[in-house]
Amino acid sequence: MQLTDTLRIHELSPEERAVYAALKPERLPEHVAIIMDGNGRWAGRRSLKRFLGHQQGAKSVQLVTETASRIGLPWLTLYAFSLENSLRRPPAEVNFLMRLLKSYLESNVQRMMDNNVRIRYIGRTHELPAEVQDKMRWAEEATARNTGTTLTLALNYGARSELVDAVRSLSAEMQRKHVGPDRITEEDVHRHLYTAHMPDPDLLIRTSGEMRVSNFLLWQIAYTEIFVTDRLWPDFRGIHLLEAIADFQRRERRFGGIGESCGEVEEDPKRIKLAAG
Ligand code: FPP
Repeated sequence: MQLTDTLRIHELSPEERAVYAALKPERLPEHVAIIMDGNGRWAGRRSLKRFLGHQQGAKSVQLVTETASRIGLPWLTLYAFSLENSLRRPPAEVNFLMRLLKSYLESNVQRMMDNNVRIRYIGRTHELPAEVQDKMRWAEEATARNTGTTLTLALNYGARSELVDAVRSLSAEMQRKHVGPDRITEEDVHRHLYTAHMPDPDLLIRTSGEMRVSNFLLWQIAYTEIFVTDRLWPDFRGIHLLEAIADFQRRERRFGGIGESCGEVEEDPKRIKLAAG
């Protein structure tokens, strides 16, 4: 599914266009989520300070978002700052990331407007510094009427705390409505997640080679295809997003079913007997 009325394929680079040409437009993911990892290693390999890795990472955010908007990807969600980041990183690095976010928003709102991108956030954003929240609100309001890609930044985000917040608000609702716990459905939990307004990710990309999901969208990725690349986030560009989508299109998604390539299910009475012990 893509946003066909906002497609801008002619704005892709020739290299991106070549990868895009091999994609099946009818099987584009609706929602891509990315764990952006490797900023520190990128800087370390160049004997640079870590903050320069984050700065280059912010450039990747801009370029990848623009490619996503050109191919009409409806939802792009980026893990920009985890709850654990704020607790476990030196305060100087956390402060730098906050300043970087603020200046990213300041200098990119015009580009988001030009690319018809709407920005939103998930996470315990009310715990972020007040001036960062002000800038976030400003960027969200400025881009609210854009109809292309929705870029969601996960900030001060943790999936377990998202579930805790969902349980708290769901139980408050149940009390208000005098509903018992046995009536809770998956749909109820979904309605109380930060992501209630968006579809679950079809594709989760993680850069820098780690095989972990790091407390990101745990409920939402139940049936998501995962693509891990060794490329470090500051080296990740739009073309790599398109390559990940090409890989995604070669997968067979089953959602717990048996898939199309499995053929007819033949009954083998002997097997059934054995399996039954
Ligand atoms: C991981 O690198 C990345 C982050 C801490 C968060 C991502 C942040 C950015 C891309 C910077 C700016 C973002 C915005 C939205 C302006 P790491 O430091 O964990 O890398 P390492 O594992 O190699 O040390």
